[in-house]
Amino acid sequence: MKILLLGSGGREHALAWKLAQSPHCSSLFIAPGNAGTSGCGVNINLSPLDFEAVGAYCIAENIGMVVVGPEEPLVRGIVDFFTVNPALRSIPVIGPSASGARLEGSKSFSKQFMDRHQIPTAAYREFNSSSYTEGIAYLHEHSLPIVLKADGLAAGKGVLICQSHVEAVAEFELMLQGNKFGEAGNTVVVEEFLSGIELSVFVLTDGRHYLTLPEAKDYKRVGEGDKGPNTGGMGAVSPVPFADTVFMDKITQRIIIPTINGLSAEEIDYRGFVFIGVIKVGEDPYVIEYNCRMGDPETEVVIPRLKNDLVELFTAVAEQRLNERTIQTDDRTACTIVAVSGGYPGSYEKGLPITGLDQPLTEDSLIFHAGTRAEKDAVLTNGGRVLCVTSFAETVYEAVDKSRDVLEKIDYEGIYYRRDIGFEFL
Ligand code: AMP
Ligand code: GLY
Repeated sequence: MKILLLGSGGREHALAWKLAQSPHCSSLFIAPGNAGTSGCGVNINLSPLDFEAVGAYCIAENIGMVVVGPEEPLVRGIVDFFTVNPALRSIPVIGPSASGARLEGSKSFSKQFMDRHQIPTAAYREFNSSSYTEGIAYLHEHSLPIVLKADGLAAGKGVLICQSHVEAVAEFELMLQGNKFGEAGNTVVVEEFLSGIELSVFVLTDGRHYLTLPEAKDYKRVGEGDKGPNTGGMGAVSPVPFADTVFMDKITQRIIIPTINGLSAEEIDYRGFVFIGVIKVGEDPYVIEYNCRMGDPETEVVIPRLKNDLVELFTAVAEQRLNERTIQTDDRTACTIVAVSGGYPGSYEKGLPITGLDQPLTEDSLIFHAGTRAEKDAVLTNGGRVLCVTSFAETVYEAVDKSRDVLEKIDYEGIYYRRDIGFEFL
C-alpha cells in the first residue's frame, strides 16, 4: 500500500521512520516533510492545508492511506473533505473528523464534553463579548493564579497563567476586546489552576475501541531545571516513573473509557490519536487538555518504544477492528533531547549548515529531524526545533547520557539543548 503522511516535524520523521519499516508499506510519501523524512520515503511539496491538492495527489498516485501528523488540517476538516468526496471516500485518513478534532480545536467544546461525561478537569466558566462584564466580575472573585484559555487554536500560545487579578483582567480584555488571538480568542475559558506533575497519555481509537500507547513526559520550558519561557517541547522520556499501574488504572477508568464512550455516544467519527494532557493532583488524575494528534517531542519516544507494525494498527483503526490488536512495547526507557536554534522560542536564524549528522550511531540511538531542510549535499536548519536525538537504555540517566553523546558531535551556529531532560527521575 502507498501511504501519504502529512506534516514536517520531528513527530512526522518518527512516524515516517516507523511506517517505512512495515512490509505493508510499499511506498511512503511525506508532505512536505524535512531533510530527515526523505531518508524514509519521498518528500512531496504539498501543503497539508491544501486539501484539494492533497486529494488530487492521492488519486493521481493511488494512495491507499493518509496519516495526518499535525492538528490544523484535522481541525479544518481534512477527514470530512475526504469523506464527502466520492473519489476520495474509500481512502482511509488516520485522524478524527472536524467534529472530533474540536477536542483540541475548541477549549469550550472540550470542557463541555468533559462535563457531559463526568471526566475530571479543572473547574471553569466561559465568557464572550456579550458576557464580558460578568467575566470581569468573575475574575475579581477568582483565586490566584487564574488560568485563561483562548477557545480556538492559537499556535500553542493561547494559555495564560496569570499571577494577579490586574494581569488576568488585562489579558481577558486583550482577548475579548483587543483581538489578541484573533477569532481564537472570541470565547475565553477561565479555569481553576491545578498544581501537580504532568503526564502525556496517548490513545489510539477507531471510535469504538481503543488501545493505550506508552505514556511520556515532555519538558516544555526552554531552560534547565524547567526555567524560562514555554516552548513546543525540549525533550521527553517514556516510560514515566510515577505513572505506575495504580495511577494508569485511574486514568483508564476515569478518563480514557469515558472519553471513548463519550465520543461514541455523541456519534463523533474519531479514528486516530487522542493525546490527553493529564495532571496528577495528589493521587488523582485531571485532564489539562485534549489534543487530536500525537505529541511532539513525545512521539519521538513513544513510537520507537512501540513494537507493533504501525500500518497494521492504522488499518485496524480504519476498519474499526482495533479490538483485535494489542500493544507491544519495548520495556527499555527512551529519552529524546531536542536541539533548538539559538534564540528559540524568541526569534532565530534559519538556513545554518548542520554538521555531525553522518556520525556512526549505535543501535540504541536515533536522530529525528524537525526543522531541517536539504539543499544540495547540505542539511540546513529550518525552524526553532531543529532535531531530536532519541536513545534507549535501562535507566533515564543512561538514555539521556547516550543522547547527549550524539548531540556533542552535532553542530550548527547557536545550537542549544537541555542537558537535564528527565532530571527529576535521575
Ligand atoms: P495547553 O496549551 O492547553 O497545553 O496548556 C499549556 C500548559 O499550561 C499546560 O501544559 C499546563 O502546564 C498549563 N496549564 C493549562 N491549564 C492549566 C491549569 N488548569 N492548571 C495548571 N496549569 C495549567
Ligand atoms: N508536546 C506537547 C504537544 O505536542 O502539544
